[in-house]
Amino acid sequence: MKGVILAGGTGTRLAPLTKLVNKHLLPAGKYPMIHYAVAKLADAGIEDILLVIGKQSAGLFIDYLGGGKPWGVRLTYRIQEEAGGIAQGLALAEGFVAPGEKMVVLLGDNLFEDDLKPLVEKFGAQEQGAMVVLKEVDDLNRYGVPVFLRDSIIFIEEKPSTPKSGYCVTGIYMYDSGVFDTIRKIRPSPRGEMEITDVNNVYAMEGRLRYGVLNGWWTDAGTFDSLREAGEKLSAGKGGER
Ligand code: DAU
Repeated sequence: MKGVILAGGTGTRLAPLTKLVNKHLLPAGKYPMIHYAVAKLADAGIEDILLVIGKQSAGLFIDYLGGGKPWGVRLTYRIQEEAGGIAQGLALAEGFVAPGEKMVVLLGDNLFEDDLKPLVEKFGAQEQGAMVVLKEVDDLNRYGVPVFLRDSIIFIEEKPSTPKSGYCVTGIYMYDSGVFDTIRKIRPSPRGEMEITDVNNVYAMEGRLRYGVLNGWWTDAGTFDSLREAGEKLSAGKGGER
C-alpha cells in the first residue's frame, strides 16, 4: 500500500506564524508537525510515501525530511500550485499510486496517538472502496460529521451546524485507486475547494465506505489551541516518537 501526506494549504488560522513558514513545519512537541505523519506511516509498514506540499517552504521540507532515510521510507514530492482543496491535492497522487493499488492518506496537520497498523491491515483486507477513520469529539462543527443508518455511514456533512452523530471524520483516509476517477466527478464547493467530504460521499452513496474508530487522543492542529494541546501530549511522550 502507498502513503500520501497532504501538507499544502494556507494555514490561515495559524497566521501570522504561517506567513513565515508552512503550517506543517511549525513545532509540535520536539519535532516539526510533518515529522509525525511520516513516522506514523513508516510504523504502519508503508514504505513509499508521496508528500504533497505547496510552494511555500518547499526547500525546508526537503531539508528536514530528505529522501526519508531516517524513517526507512522513500519520499517523493509533488507541488500543489494553489490551495484548491484536499481532493485537488490528492489528485496529484495519480500515477504515484498505480491502478489497482491502495493508499493511506494523511492530512499533515492531524496528530494522534493510535498505531495505524490495525486500520491499514483492515483496509488491506477490504476488497475495494474507501475507509474513513472516526473519533468522538465535542467541537463537531469544525469537522466532517458522519450520518449513520444503523451501522453504516450514509452521508458525511462538512462542518454541520446541527451534527447528526458524536463523531468527526479525521484526516486519516484510505482509498482504492478508483478515487482518482471519483475526484474527476466532483466540483468545487461554495467555499471554492475540491472537498474530500464530497469524494467520501460518492463512496458512501455507492455503499462502499467503511470506517474505523480511533481509541487514543487525536487533534487537528490547525489552530493555536489545538497545536498547543497536541504539543503537550507529544512532549509527554504519548504518540509519534521515532
Ligand atoms: O482534520 C479533519 C478535517 O479536515 C475533516 O474533519 C474535514 O472533513 C476536512 O474537510 C478537513 O477540514 P479542515 O477545514 O480542517 O481542512 P484544512 O483546509 O484545514 O486542511 C487540512 C489539511 O489538508 C492541512 O494539513 C493541509 C492540507 N491541504 C489543505 C488544502 C485546502 C492541502 O494539502 N491542500 C489544500 O488545498
